[in-house]
Amino acid sequence: MISITQATEQDLPLIRDIAYQTWPNTFGEILSPNQISYMLEMMYSLGSLNAQINEKKHVFLLAKDTDSDEYLGYVSYELDYTGQSLTKIHKIYLLPASQGKGVGRLLIDQVASIAIRNNNTRLGLNVNRYNKAIQFYERMGFLVVGKEDIDIGDGFLMEDFVMEKPLNP
Ligand SMILES: CC(C)(COP(=O)(O)OP(=O)(O)OC[C@H]1O[C@@H](n2cnc3c(N)ncnc32)[C@H](O)[C@@H]1OP(=O)(O)O)[C@@H](O)C(=O)NCCC(=O)NCCS
Repeated sequence: MISITQATEQDLPLIRDIAYQTWPNTFGEILSPNQISYMLEMMYSLGSLNAQINEKKHVFLLAKDTDSDEYLGYVSYELDYTGQSLTKIHKIYLLPASQGKGVGRLLIDQVASIAIRNNNTRLGLNVNRYNKAIQFYERMGFLVVGKEDIDIGDGFLMEDFVMEKPLNP
């Protein structure tokens, strides 16, 4: 069985470890090794993760296999993003061996019900334009609503689609 629980500060090293195990596999054919290292440091240093949960009000949920007691991945979200009735999904990553087994769907469904309980009417996210996760999001009911190139410093660019899913209470 899969359990989904809210992460605390003590779980941040675990989240960082899952990211470091997942990113090379996800972005190896999309981004340069230097850009992957740069983005991992920017988004997953313990200082950065701490600021995300304590200052930016991102919430991390962890998915765990209760039979093996192993953590499989995480999602992070922010309610009322930029004052809108929008819940932004900032991150969703599952270990390579745990992908394609329905856990991503469980995490999105969980965030959707939390968003609805908080009177948000849409889920939103950014995804790299070359990431096959786009097909997963489409399957989950997201649509591409825009395109964004974000300068993240050091000459690196994030080339994203913006996707949204309307929520029905
Ligand atoms: C993207 C990710 C979170 C999806 O989670 P998942 O557990 O692998 O997906 P699920 O097994 O829950 O799939 C749900 C549905 O989407 C479909 N789907 C998933 N990945 C797909 C793909 N690449 N292409 C087409 N359909 C896909 C599944 O077939 C399934 O459809 P069904 O319910 O009709 O059978 C996961 O694969 C992952 O962590 N990938 C690497 C990291 C990443 O790219 N994260 C997103 C960054 S923006």
